[in-house]
Amino acid sequence: MEIIICENPTSASRLAALHVAAVIRAKPEAVLGLATGATPVALYAELAELFRRGMADFSRCSTFNLDEYVGIGRDHPASFSRFMREKLFRHINVLPENTRIPDGLAGDIPGHCAAYEKAISAAGGIDLQILGIGADGHIGFNEPSSSLASRTRLKTLTRKTREDNARFFGRGEPVPQHAITMGIGTIMEAREAVLLAFGEAKAQAVANAIEGPVSASNPASILQMHPRAVIFLDDLAAGLLQRSDYYREVFEQKPHWQRGDFGGVVFWEDKR
Ligand code: F6R
Repeated sequence: MEIIICENPTSASRLAALHVAAVIRAKPEAVLGLATGATPVALYAELAELFRRGMADFSRCSTFNLDEYVGIGRDHPASFSRFMREKLFRHINVLPENTRIPDGLAGDIPGHCAAYEKAISAAGGIDLQILGIGADGHIGFNEPSSSLASRTRLKTLTRKTREDNARFFGRGEPVPQHAITMGIGTIMEAREAVLLAFGEAKAQAVANAIEGPVSASNPASILQMHPRAVIFLDDLAAGLLQRSDYYREVFEQKPHWQRGDFGGVVFWEDKR
């Protein structure tokens, strides 16, 4: 795992966006896996800015979102479909027909999930998967106890996740109990996984994921088994890591040729 600790969410999101842009430059038809929630909002704003500056072209990219609530339509204010349109898609040049998000109103949910998996395979698999992390360690909506080999399917959200996400719904409006989510097995097949986590509320989940045992009780810990996982943190989210000094040192001392792993972007000299 590559652990990159930044001063604040803005600098972490900028760095992550430069990395995504470098991946797209290297492979213009890249398939991106996308997350929703509060965490990637700044990343998406940075990607939109890179597009405006002519530094990122999404015209040949395709995207697959991690998840969607069951029982709400694509225009519901809290739907992930609407979130993606508002926070990213309408600001960049990705073709709408190349963006896919599970359908929260699908009649045949198992059939829809199987078709989603097939569509990911038909697109050649996900090149880079963006992830957030729940305070309970979930990735996508794979709650603790999810099979580490799971595929796209229906999941029941924990009370904690529903409480955490109530802020995206209207006052008094219930948060759906179920979601369709890519499985942990699906996520692990992405060629690269980029997880972002910010703020003190994520510090315990981050420490468990990076330094705890690999366990279905802590779904994000599976990233320890991913050959190419990059974790972008702010100082607060990194607050409970035992080896944070080492992670900072590794990043600062990266030999020049290794920075090429990030598409030649020397992030800490971003001059914008
Ligand atoms: C969203 C998703 C979730 C979120 C996680 C963190 O598509 O899959 O795993 O990434 O719940 O949410 P925020 O960023 O709102 O704290």
